Amino acid sequence: MSIIRDAALAESGRRKIAWARAYMPVLNAIGANLSEKKPFKGFRVTTSVHLEAKTACLALTLAEGGAEVHSTGCNPLSTQDDVAAALADMGVNVYAVHGCTDREYTEHLTAALSCKPHLILDDGGDLTELLHGPAERLGEALIGATEETTTGVHRLHARHRTGQLRFPVMAVNDADMKHLFDNRYGTGQSTWDALMNTTNLQVSGKAVVIAGYGWCGRGVAMRAAGLGARVIVTEIDPVKAIEAVNDGHTVMTMDDAAAHGDFFITVTGCNDVVVDRHYAKMKDGVILANAGHFDVEVDVKWLRENSIEAIPRRDGIMAYKQKDGRYLNVIAEGRLCNLAAGNGHPVEIMDMSFGVQALALKHMLQHGSGLKPGVYPVPHEIDARVSELKLLSMGMTIDKLTEVQKKYLEAQ
Ligand SMILES: NC(=O)c1ccc[n+]([C@@H]2O[C@H](COP(=O)([O-])OP(=O)(O)OC[C@H]3O[C@@H](n4cnc5c(N)ncnc54)[C@H](O)[C@@H]3O)[C@@H](O)[C@H]2O)c1
Repeated sequence: MSIIRDAALAESGRRKIAWARAYMPVLNAIGANLSEKKPFKGFRVTTSVHLEAKTACLALTLAEGGAEVHSTGCNPLSTQDDVAAALADMGVNVYAVHGCTDREYTEHLTAALSCKPHLILDDGGDLTELLHGPAERLGEALIGATEETTTGVHRLHARHRTGQLRFPVMAVNDADMKHLFDNRYGTGQSTWDALMNTTNLQVSGKAVVIAGYGWCGRGVAMRAAGLGARVIVTEIDPVKAIEAVNDGHTVMTMDDAAAHGDFFITVTGCNDVVVDRHYAKMKDGVILANAGHFDVEVDVKWLRENSIEAIPRRDGIMAYKQKDGRYLNVIAEGRLCNLAAGNGHPVEIMDMSFGVQALALKHMLQHGSGLKPGVYPVPHEIDARVSELKLLSMGMTIDKLTEVQKKYLEAQ
């Protein structure tokens, strides 16, 4: 039995899913094969990913491959209720409601695990966390898992280092066909898409402070520069800082950048990146947004507790009035803005990420029982298959090495 906001929203969700499917040639090609061979038949799969149209396409692909699918979200604000309703109507068990409380969020994740899945697809590590704690007994049939994002992979490595990880997990985030495009171009486009739509403000000529110059930060900075903004990067890694300078951006500490920024975007995976001492220096009317996985990067709790007033300004924007009269505007309560205040990555990007996911889950199903608990890379053949399908869908071909060239390269 599904837990959704309103079954009557299904028609709008169906249209969103159909739109996404039309632009997902890679996942559709993989799905056609899964649908024919039904490798997931007799197996239960629980997915915890931002529940919107592209994710629905992945859940349906797994179901067409024979799986009994149970889907929940991975963030209380990123679920789209119409998509959840449509997915439930299309035969997937759904447990997700937009704007649910933290307690309800955990209940939804637990409900999605109550089928005792053979495979889980996690995004950020919350399912994995439950399976190592209060929902431990629901993991008795588990063969293995896949993890979608950087923060989730970090949490897995931390758990494995202390000898606590109980099952094998494939780090989908680290596959080339995932992070090279999803984290960089996906976060780059969708963060600006969300910020421009939510604020309706101009970007060109503005100072944009981006905290973290990893895969995501680079993408957000590249698109900011393309929109005509002046980009300031803050980092803790000297190599990344030098890369940012070579890409044409200015590097400084957050303490120095605080006074300059019009937009602040955190994308570090770290906590306390923008805090009260920074707020004290900021200009009136700044926009504070986070694109990292958890809502720990911008200290919104301090703003809630110490501002004179919190005023909802537009959908997805809360203005916090400071004692000196300045307003600091927070997007989507500091939760990852491109999903909590937007539609997430472009469809074509998630086509590749979820192509990797579908093949990684199949691989885990076939090989997971023979693997010890640990964090495993996605096999190269999966990256190769997804990239081939993507090239094919774009009508592009690439050169092949001749025997002479192969010999030349091998002799180097
Ligand atoms: N919004 C999205 O759709 C989306 C997509 C993919 C990943 N993510 C999340 O975004 C975050 C970053 O992912 P990534 O793949 O870019 O990771 P990454 O490891 O490639 O980059 C993170 C960067 O932040 C820097 N950093 C860490 N702490 C910092 C601090 N206190 N101040 C300044 N810089 C700091 C690191 O040195 C690193 O260069 C993760 O939480 C990840 O899960 C979000």
